[in-house]
Amino acid sequence: MRKDLGKKLNFMPLPVLMIGTYDENGKANLMNAAWGGVYDYNEVIVSLSPHKTTKNLELKRAFTLSFATKDNVVESDYFGIVSGNKEDKIAKAKFHPVKSKFVDAPLFEEYPLTLECTVKSFEDGTLIGEIVNASVDEKYLDKNGKIDVEKIGFISFDMLTNSYRLIGEKVGNAFKDGLKIK
Ligand SMILES: Cc1cc2nc3c(=O)[nH]c(=O)nc-3n(C[C@H](O)[C@H](O)[C@H](O)COP(=O)(O)O)c2cc1C
Repeated sequence: MRKDLGKKLNFMPLPVLMIGTYDENGKANLMNAAWGGVYDYNEVIVSLSPHKTTKNLELKRAFTLSFATKDNVVESDYFGIVSGNKEDKIAKAKFHPVKSKFVDAPLFEEYPLTLECTVKSFEDGTLIGEIVNASVDEKYLDKNGKIDVEKIGFISFDMLTNSYRLIGEKVGNAFKDGLKIK
């Protein structure tokens, strides 16, 4: 038996995306965004209400998109519950911004994997970003030069229980396991 839950958005899992921008004074800011993902091969999409970040995006036409990890859960949540209009979030969280070499937006030492993007379009709260570069903290590369997903400890947002969960155990091989029943 299945139980109907109605029109409620029960979507699992969601990412914990951290959008990094500069304001008109060159001050770095971060916000947390779960309503986003992949748009096209080289593009990302995020659904945004008005924030300090959206003003920054309109001004600079650039942003970074990082993926929160188990080592920065508290700060990443803080970046999603307080506006940069009210507090200097970066200073308060003691994060370390560094200017991207590719776009007019900050990277943060605390986030190991980051996509550096230009704003392709931002209309009706839908941000489409074009990836100009991706960078990773070398200490999370394995001996083959690949990103060590388990070592990084990416987290996801569980909207069913309002919690963050560690993305962990590997349970299968994509594009391969299904061949067993082909
Ligand atoms: C888990 C979580 C997910 C969020 N997802 C989004 C989102 O997808 N879109 C959005 O507009 N705001 C989202 N927010 C809210 C913003 O992060 C929040 O309003 C933030 O204070 C905006 O910061 P800013 O004003 O410094 O840009 C989310 C917050 C949390 C805690």
